Amino acid sequence: MEVFVTAGPEEAARRAARVVIEAVAESVAAGRAPVVGLATGSSPLGLYKELALAVDRGQVDFSEAYGFALDEYVGLPAGHPESYREVLVAEVCRRVGLAPERLHVPDGSGRNESELAAGAARYEELIRGVGGIDVQILGIGRNGHIGFNEPGSSLTSRTRVKRLSSRTRADNARFFESLDDVPTHCVTQGLGTVLEARRLLLVATGASKAPAVAAAVEGPLTASCPGSVLQFHADALVVVDEAAAAGLR
Ligand code: F6R
Repeated sequence: MEVFVTAGPEEAARRAARVVIEAVAESVAAGRAPVVGLATGSSPLGLYKELALAVDRGQVDFSEAYGFALDEYVGLPAGHPESYREVLVAEVCRRVGLAPERLHVPDGSGRNESELAAGAARYEELIRGVGGIDVQILGIGRNGHIGFNEPGSSLTSRTRVKRLSSRTRADNARFFESLDDVPTHCVTQGLGTVLEARRLLLVATGASKAPAVAAAVEGPLTASCPGSVLQFHADALVVVDEAAAAGLR
């Protein structure tokens, strides 16, 4: 795993954008449509803005690319502004010119466990069908989660339904009117799914992420810190600003 420490969040966004641009160029050179794994949340927003600037400058083109979301809430009505599909359409598709039809998001609309499980299995097939994810963008939760793989998630897990921890629901309440409106469950790519991406790119900024970054990068490989699975990947880059790097030795 490589760790790149930047002075602040803007430089982190620029550094991370370079990695995505390189990955897209490599896929195109190999004759494949680029496949980008997309995280939501605050951490990648600067990166998505940098990608939009790079598109404007003609440095990268997402018109042939596919996007695959890491996760989606269960039970939000279609078109809900906080559903990750809507968030990614607004933050990524519209900004970088990725066609919404080429954006795939785990299906959180199943009405029961078996419908949700079938949707999760279809999602895995879709990822396989495009030849796998070239670069998976990740954020990390304060409790070390990646995607919505909360502490205790199996290190080999696949896309599936998960209950959100109370800490994650509280962290995400800022996007909803009240804590009660935050869904209790999600469908998330599993840690095994994430590990199959050709390249992993985790972006974390700010002091609140320092303990999780330290545990993921320098702690033991353990289900108690799902982010630590990056240690297991042959091509993982962690881009952190100085505040998020503060717990690193
Ligand atoms: C988002 C996701 C989560 C976030 C994490 C950090 O798709 O899967 O793992 O990356 O909760 O969120 P922010 O970036 O908002 O601090």
